[in-house]
Amino acid sequence: MKRISLFTICFVIFIACWVFLQFVIGGVISKPIPNSVIGMYMALVLVAILVHVSVEDSRFKEFLRPVYETLVDDRYRVRRLVLVIVIPLLLTGFSYTNLAQKTPPPGDPRDAHPTPPLELKYKDEVIETMQKAQNPYRHYEKDDPETFRSHVENGKKVYYDNCFYCHGDHLDGQGHFAHGLQPLPANFQDPGIIPNFQEAYFFWRISKGGPGLPASGTPWNTAMPVWEDHLTQEEIWDVILFLSDYTGYKYRTFGEGH
Ligand code: HEC
Repeated sequence: MKRISLFTICFVIFIACWVFLQFVIGGVISKPIPNSVIGMYMALVLVAILVHVSVEDSRFKEFLRPVYETLVDDRYRVRRLVLVIVIPLLLTGFSYTNLAQKTPPPGDPRDAHPTPPLELKYKDEVIETMQKAQNPYRHYEKDDPETFRSHVENGKKVYYDNCFYCHGDHLDGQGHFAHGLQPLPANFQDPGIIPNFQEAYFFWRISKGGPGLPASGTPWNTAMPVWEDHLTQEEIWDVILFLSDYTGYKYRTFGEGH
């Protein structure tokens, strides 16, 4: 019967220690041991094995014999070939699993519709409290339809001069730039948008844009520009009229029923 080599015995002991740490201990304390800790213990095991085999010269030679044979002896050509293929494969696999792009953690905890500030401001001028602020041109819808139309028309011009690049020709959030943006531009055709917000909320979002979002709206990586830098208050209120006129959705109000 062939004698089991010292090398094989040490190898088996090494693997057994690893299995013990990885599965048995982890199972007993019902928490897996961190890889770094296992790594430390395995380094100790390796040192212990090397110390054990190297205390005597003859034992060390006996330990290295299979390694030596595999490397030079012609009887072990097949084994040599297999190792030459398997070891690089293992190393490749190891570095691949370590370097490969990990899938990013799911979800973006960003709040897309954070609570607005208490006061509605344009530049630094306080317009009203958020609750009370009204679109100053909305009343023309009943009182003077012609004036109302002219405000909607002006809002349409503002929209197609400034907004459609991102929010789309049809206000559906599918503008030319939309595909490159994350978060996507708001889709005003979505029934969950306009009916859920007051006009004042939209005034706030349009005038302050992405940079004006509060902490719960972070990360502030939205592309929505700060329009108070480019549009007058009237232009902002007008484009707000246009958004609901075009889509047919009515803004939320705090009238009857609330
Ligand atoms: C450079 C692209 C871009 C342009 C131009 C742009 N927006 Fe936006 N807008 C966005 C993005 C992206 C969002 C979504 C992220 C966010 O809420 O900030 C957004 C969000 C909004 C919202 C918030 C909707 C909600 O559900 O809270 C409103 C209102 C809005 N835009 C109106 C406008 C108006 C009006 C204009 C033109 C005056 C305009 N946007 C121009 C990119 C743009």
